[in-house]
This record gives sequence, C-alpha cells and structure tokens, in this order.
Amino acid sequence: MFGVQLLVQVAFITVHVSGVVFQDCGSAYDLTAVTIEGCEMRPPCFVTLGETVPVNIEFYARNFVSRELDQDVVLSINFVNLRPDVTPERCEVESVVCPVVINAISSLTSVMSVPTSMALNRRGFLRWRVYNESGQQVLCYSVLVQTQSPFQKLMKQLNKTG
Ligand SMILES: *[C@@H]1O[C@H](CO)[C@@H](O)[C@H](O)[C@H]1NC(C)=O
Repeated sequence: MFGVQLLVQVAFITVHVSGVVFQDCGSAYDLTAVTIEGCEMRPPCFVTLGETVPVNIEFYARNFVSRELDQDVVLSINFVNLRPDVTPERCEVESVVCPVVINAISSLTSVMSVPTSMALNRRGFLRWRVYNESGQQVLCYSVLVQTQSPFQKLMKQLNKTG
C-alpha cells in the first residue's frame, strides 16, 4: 500500500492487553505489542476468508520521529503471496495528521480485508512491514496464521458456548 499516508495516533496508556505472539523481522522502533482481533495469544492466528480484521500495533520510538508511514502487508499461504487490502484508521481528530513522536508509545490500527481466494485450512504467515517517509523500514513483524472459512469460525464459536 505505497502512496497511502498513514495516520498514527499516540496512546498515553501503557497498560497492555495481551497481543499475539509475533516475530520481529527488523524493526527500528521497539515493537511492543501486536493485537489481531479474534486471535488468541497462542499461535496460530486464525484468519477467516472474506472478513475485515482490525490489527493494532504498539511501538516505542526512541531515536527518531516519522511524519508519514506506508505499509506493505503480505499473507503467505500455501506458498502463495497475497497482498490484502489494508486501511489505516484515522486519528481521533479528523484532518489532523498525527506523527510518530519520540519517547512515547504510538498506537496504529489498520483494518485488513482477508482475501476470499486463499486455500482453506492451511498454515502460513502474515508479514507486516511499515516504512517511513524516506522509504526505510521502521517496523516489521510476522505472525503464524491459519486460514478458515466463515462456517468453520461459526462452528468453533458454537462449540465454545455449547
Ligand atoms: C527512516 O528510518 C530509518 C530507520 O530504518 C532511519 O535511520 C531514518 O532516519 C528515518 N528517516 C527519517 C527521515 O526519519
């Protein structure tokens, strides 16, 4: 998703809800938490074909600020790489661009549209990269994922409550 300017909001809360287990693949900022809606801490993170999933990251910027962020997201399932649509959420105050500030926790939420054209019941990974205004990587993580259909998700929910 190059050319799309990301809006980042700064959170002043340092309390963490538990996120998912992730692997850092070269973040310049300190990536502290990745939260994917519907995913538990323990891998794999189940992604449901056709769903829109909010994904939140929290990171700490120690050395430098960013005015703009671009992100590049890949879902790699069954040796096929797909780029899901990813839409960053806006800052709370509209028309205000929120830069990444130094020595604070920044929080960034994006909504990912899981493609419908993926193999079911396969494991792979989600790799999420964020670049700054000079095109250099500031954040990178990957998460172990497994695909499921909306019906499978529903059956799991019914099993849990029943
Ligand atoms: C972009 O990020 C790199 C780290 O990957 C950093 O060294 C560089 O200073 C950043 N550029 C700007 C303009 O902040």
